[in-house]
Amino acid sequence: MKALVYNGPGKKSWETKPRPAILDATDAIVKVYKTTICGTDLHILKGDVPEVTPGRILGHEGVGVIEEIGSAVNNFKKGDHVLISCISSCGKCDYCKKGMYSHCEKGGWILGHLIDGTQAEYVRTPFADNSLYKIPQGADEEALVMLSDILPTGFECGVLNGRISPGDTVAIVGAGPVGLAALLTAQFYTPSEIIMIDVDDNRLEVAKKFGASRTINSSKENVVDKVKSLTGNKGVDCAIEAVGIPATFELCESIVTAGGHIANIGVHGKSVELHLETLWAQNITITTRLVDTVTTPMLLKTVTSKKLDPQQLITHRFPLSDIIKAYDVFSNPGKERALKVIMTNE
Ligand SMILES: NC(=O)c1ccc[n+]([C@@H]2O[C@H](COP(=O)([O-])OP(=O)(O)OC[C@H]3O[C@@H](n4cnc5c(N)ncnc54)[C@H](O)[C@@H]3O)[C@@H](O)[C@H]2O)c1
Ligand SMILES: [Zn+2]
Ligand SMILES: [Zn+2]
Repeated sequence: MKALVYNGPGKKSWETKPRPAILDATDAIVKVYKTTICGTDLHILKGDVPEVTPGRILGHEGVGVIEEIGSAVNNFKKGDHVLISCISSCGKCDYCKKGMYSHCEKGGWILGHLIDGTQAEYVRTPFADNSLYKIPQGADEEALVMLSDILPTGFECGVLNGRISPGDTVAIVGAGPVGLAALLTAQFYTPSEIIMIDVDDNRLEVAKKFGASRTINSSKENVVDKVKSLTGNKGVDCAIEAVGIPATFELCESIVTAGGHIANIGVHGKSVELHLETLWAQNITITTRLVDTVTTPMLLKTVTSKKLDPQQLITHRFPLSDIIKAYDVFSNPGKERALKVIMTNE
């Protein structure tokens, strides 16, 4: 089969690899139908994720059709259409039993990281019963690719951890696919204001179409002053960080109101200054999380019932064999106006 292979920092190729086989009784082999590229794949290619070793097939998102199941898989059969979660979970360890699938002792984020991933014609998915989701007949399978990672990430790490409630004021820093996924799912709770903050005017335009009540370009305007003026000089009830750099986390510290929440989503590579000299008396809550994907079944219902339309996040489509071109487009979001790119295994 053909697959997108990481060959060390800066090097990737579309090459022939052996088709995966069942290794454990709980595995399934899925014929990939549609997959996508994540910002994390770009981090891997930069060499930022050293556990990923040369020869690894990348990708942790996608939908497909079950080709083969291990002897212990009960919920699926050959021919079933499935959504592949970015998190593999055994369902039996202490962390899984707490709903913290991301910290599963035998799984977690392993696809396209510690084991071969979904940017291929076939993929081996461990713990299939607990890590794949049956796609209802007639569902828009392309839209469901957004449920492998970014929608549960925006919802669990941003919206749920940020405790967004009706009438709340919310600021989301970062209007990439993950920040936009938080924007879409925040609207389940009817906040009174959702202020999107980014440095890219095109992404802020998209945010307006997705339901942001205000947008602020932080390279052109003073965000703290603007947010204060929009919130009666108070600040927001919930500040969501969806970039992953010190400046944007510190911005959240400056715009959260007393009693509010700072919900971090971004992957941080550097330490961040925590301003306890101003925050100690402010009754705020700071949360961090690696996406657990425990809300995937619920999100699947909201998509199939058309309450949520994640298809809006897809800007480009390619055949899977053009994946190198797809990487070029996804790596230049400013120039290409790219959010999510879909590759189809035709
Ligand atoms: N916690 C988790 O489980 C989890 C899961 C997936 C992704 N993530 C992380 O979420 C973050 C967002 O992911 P994404 O795919 O949307 O990334 P992205 O790079 O596509 O989007 C980031 C956005 O931030 C904007 N930005 C950059 N610098 C800025 C600044 N100084 N001020 C305001 N905006 C700025 C960019 O213009 C871009 O639109 C990343 O850090 C990613 O690694 C976390
Ligand atoms: Zn991802
Ligand atoms: Zn587990």
